[in-house]
Amino acid sequence: MDARLQLRLQRYGWDRAAPHYEKAWNEALAPATRAVLDAAALRPGERVLDVACGSGLLTRAAWQAVAPGGGEVVGSDISESMLTEAAVRLPGCRFVRADAQTLNEHVPTAYFDALLCGLGLMYMPDPEAALVGMARCLRPTGRLAVSVWGERRACGWAEIFPIVDARVRSEVCPMFFRVGSGDTLAQALRAAGLVDVHTTRISTQISYADADAACDAAFLGGPVALAYSRFDGPTRLAARADYLQSIEPWRQGDCFRIPGEFVIGSGLRPAATTNDF
Ligand SMILES: C[S@@+](CC[C@H](N)C(=O)[O-])C[C@H]1O[C@@H](n2cnc3c(N)ncnc32)[C@H](O)[C@@H]1O
Repeated sequence: MDARLQLRLQRYGWDRAAPHYEKAWNEALAPATRAVLDAAALRPGERVLDVACGSGLLTRAAWQAVAPGGGEVVGSDISESMLTEAAVRLPGCRFVRADAQTLNEHVPTAYFDALLCGLGLMYMPDPEAALVGMARCLRPTGRLAVSVWGERRACGWAEIFPIVDARVRSEVCPMFFRVGSGDTLAQALRAAGLVDVHTTRISTQISYADADAACDAAFLGGPVALAYSRFDGPTRLAARADYLQSIEPWRQGDCFRIPGEFVIGSGLRPAATTNDF
C-alpha cells in the first residue's frame, strides 16, 4: 500500500478511535505499559519523548516519574484527537502532532534521556526508518524502550484485520504483525544504531465482560475504527458476527479471555557518538 495512504488511514482512524481508546484498551495494555516503563527506568528530572503517545497512557506514567525533579515530557502522535485527549489530562507536558517517521523535523536531536513508544510501530509504513529517527532524538547513553504486539498466531483477536479488509478497498494495517515476529524488533533496534539491545516476549490475556465489550474494543477503539464508521448497518452486524465467531474459542459463558502476546524491546544510544548517527 502507498505509504501516504497508510498514514492518512492511521491518522483519521485513530481520530475516530480516540474517544473510545482508554475504555477499550487501558486494562488490556497494562502489562505492556508496565514493561516499557520498567525497561526505561525513568528518573526524576529526566527528559522523555513518548512517540505515538495516543491518549497518553505511557506519557502520564513518564510525567509522574520525571516531574518531581523538574523533568520534561513531550508526547507525539499522528492523530490530533489522540493528542487532544492526552493534553487535557497532562497540562504539564508538551504535545506535537507528527508522523514518527519525520520526528526529527519536530523535536530536537540528541536531547532526550529516554524515548518510549508503546504499541505504535506496527502502524508505521517503515518502522525501521522510524526507529532510526527515534534513536537520533536520544542523547548519548539515552535509553529507548518500545512495545509491539507479538506473533500473529499468539494473538487470538488477529482475525479483526481480514474481517474488516474483506469489506473495504484498502487494507487497514497491511504489515501489522511483521515487527513483532521472530527477531525483527531486535534487528531493527540494532540497525538503528542502538547497543545493549534486549527483547522479551510477554504472554497476556485480554478480558471482556461480554460480546459487546469485545466488539466495541475491536471496532470502535482501535485501528479499524475509520473503516467501521463507514460501514452501513448490515455490514457492521456481519463484521461483528464474523469477529465473534473468530474469538468463540475463548468465550467463557458471557465473558471472553483472549490470548495475546507483546514484545518489549530496549536499547541504548552509544556513549561514544557525535551529535548524530
Ligand atoms: C495503539 S495506540 C498506542 C497509544 C499509546 N502509545 C499507548 O500505549 O496506549 C497507537 C498510536 O499510534 C499512533 N500512530 C500510528 N501511526 C503513527 C505514525 N506514523 N506516527 C505517529 N503516531 C502514529 C496512533 O495515532 C495511535 O495513537
